[in-house]
Amino acid sequence: MSRILVTGGTGYIGSHTTVELMQKGFDVTIVDNLSNSSIDVLDGIAAIAGRKPDFANIDCCNFMDLDGVFRQYPDIVGVIHFAASKAVNESVEKPLLYYRNNLGSLVTLLEVMKLHRVPNIVFSSSCTVYGQPDEAHLPVDETAPIQTALSPYGNTKQINEEIIRDEAHADKSLNATILRYFNPIGAHPSACIGELLNGVPQNLLPFVTQTAAGLRPELKVFGNDYNTPDGSCIRDYIYVVDLAKAHVKAIDRMLNVEDRDQVEVFNLGTGNGISVFTLINEFEAATGVKLPYTVVGRREGDIEQVWANPKKANEVLGWKADTPLRDVLASAWKWEKKLRKL
Ligand code: UD1
Repeated sequence: MSRILVTGGTGYIGSHTTVELMQKGFDVTIVDNLSNSSIDVLDGIAAIAGRKPDFANIDCCNFMDLDGVFRQYPDIVGVIHFAASKAVNESVEKPLLYYRNNLGSLVTLLEVMKLHRVPNIVFSSSCTVYGQPDEAHLPVDETAPIQTALSPYGNTKQINEEIIRDEAHADKSLNATILRYFNPIGAHPSACIGELLNGVPQNLLPFVTQTAAGLRPELKVFGNDYNTPDGSCIRDYIYVVDLAKAHVKAIDRMLNVEDRDQVEVFNLGTGNGISVFTLINEFEAATGVKLPYTVVGRREGDIEQVWANPKKANEVLGWKADTPLRDVLASAWKWEKKLRKL
């Protein structure tokens, strides 16, 4: 059986992707330095997949360590690269940390892949590369222009995409799939894995579930005076399990389809724009829990509205995010309740 190396595999999206890969019969080796995740995630993965993935506690910026992993597992046929720092605010305060971690790990990984003649990489990118698309580009497809990044974190995603393109241009044996995620939410339906957070959540859904669980007194809605139907911002919330499945499709395509572009880019979203107020209402409907909230001022740097045109992923990858939003929200609530022992 083929083996996939998953960097950042104990993280939120990495752990869900590892489960989907193992359930499709792949062997998986995770490398993660546990800087923003826990070793216990391996038990959660095993509880679902029936066995633990192989694991190495290493930093992807360390060439020797990464080289050791490729030596230990000569059956690696592809890599999914999640490992990265991802807190937008922190990246503004510590840009060098973000550039060192996020750029250094990709460069090192590509060097080691080349050395071991592993030709396939899936890269975890973000819709943040589109910034605020103009009206003509909403919903946003892969041809929309890339805009100046709003944070060092966003810039690392853009630069890493360029690094991949440049290397693929120079080395025709390298195949790459760049996946631009919209807003991943929810947890595995088993509640064995989900998002683990340090400190106060910055993203909407973890703040919603923590408020519902009584950890936070109320949700603050950042602005109700945007140029949208209900005045709140619009995003494309995609179920993390649907997102994970897209990675398996991307790997399958790289392993089995010859007639593909050397570097392919896919938007991964549902195609539905959901406002903050709609999300609150849907959460209440899905869980029966009343969510206290107040409207406050806009958050600096927020995008007004962005949602995906996922047609290319639907047609080329044969993938669709089809889990109903209420089921997704129920999964997030189940996970929060498990964490808080409610
Ligand atoms: C944020 C990041 C983005 C990153 C993405 C990854 C910013 C400006 N952008 O995107 O770069 O790729 O996360 O997950 O930080 N909201 C509230 N109250 C809250 C939290 C959020 O009203 O307590 C609203 C926001 O204003 C926004 C929506 O909820 O309209 C979603 O926010 P969030 O989950 O932070 O995602 P993004 O802003 O899309």
